[in-house]
Amino acid sequence: MINDRRPILVFGATGRQGGSVAKALLKARWPVRVLVLDPSDLASVALRDAGAELVHGSFADTDVIASAMRDVHGVFSVLPANLSAEEEVHYGTSIADLAAQSRIEHFIYSSGASVGDRLTGVPRFDAKPRIEAHIRALSITATIVRPMIFMEMLVRPGFGLDEGRLISLIRPDHSIQLTAVEDIGKIVAAMFADKPLFAGVTLKIASDRVTGHELEAAFTEVAGRTITYSRFPDEVLAANIDLAHMASSLEDGPLAEHVDLTAMRKLNPELLSLRSWLAGSGREALNRALSKVSE
Ligand SMILES: NC(=O)c1ccc[n+]([C@@H]2O[C@H](COP(=O)([O-])OP(=O)(O)OC[C@H]3O[C@@H](n4cnc5c(N)ncnc54)[C@H](OP(=O)(O)O)[C@@H]3O)[C@@H](O)[C@H]2O)c1
Repeated sequence: MINDRRPILVFGATGRQGGSVAKALLKARWPVRVLVLDPSDLASVALRDAGAELVHGSFADTDVIASAMRDVHGVFSVLPANLSAEEEVHYGTSIADLAAQSRIEHFIYSSGASVGDRLTGVPRFDAKPRIEAHIRALSITATIVRPMIFMEMLVRPGFGLDEGRLISLIRPDHSIQLTAVEDIGKIVAAMFADKPLFAGVTLKIASDRVTGHELEAAFTEVAGRTITYSRFPDEVLAANIDLAHMASSLEDGPLAEHVDLTAMRKLNPELLSLRSWLAGSGREALNRALSKVSE
């Protein structure tokens, strides 16, 4: 039965979200095709060894993408964070246009949970809503997911762990919803498995909701030493427009809206809490970050 399935083309499969989606689709026994920049890269080789079909190309190679979309069931589209706003809109809309021309069955675009109802006037904050609007105007069955901030962000440089503490965007007694990247793939795979239910749907996704105090307690427990939690100081936020945008969105903007975690668990019964993420892939990432603490 499953061998009758046509492939799903996954963009960004050597990265976080695309990698999670490719893994979950392969596990659900979909044939998976991935567009990779470098087929000899370790992540590409691992995808090939896991059963994915590699297509060599970049977002700019429209002929390669059009041909990779031939005979596919679905497409998962995600763009990296390091593009300019113009590039993001250009590639995001052109991938969607190519998918519409290819008459695929189901297109899933990963946007971001900070997207609100109104444009902000700042080009890089408005790239995703512009891509979303473009997709909605196309004649294509599409689903848009808007992931909340990744748990993986907490252990990246700049969030304090290299100094043995944790700094983030909320006040200690406020809460934040976070997404484990692993859950994105499982949720997207559930969506590809039920096109009628998710046709035309835009859905914020998250894995858990935690306060700053809970972050401190969980990180301290797993690290086996005190990891104090604090919010970025106001002067740091004032100097960084991206962090400031997210912090204010967490106070009273789109990032403050509550994702229904019960609904998430129905979509993905293996949904990770912060603590279960820290017991799994997060633990290794946390240990790596803490190993950089200067003695
Ligand atoms: N960080 C968060 O908390 C968060 C939350 C919600 C949404 N987002 C959004 O998530 C998106 C990033 O997703 P991610 O974290 O999964 O990205 P990522 O891990 O950086 O992966 C990017 C992928 O795109 C590929 N790529 C880069 N340039 C390419 C090109 N020119 N042509 C073809 N492929 C190319 C990369 O290939 P290589 O591996 O070969 O470089 C990689 O596979 C951003 O739009 C961001 O705003 C982030």
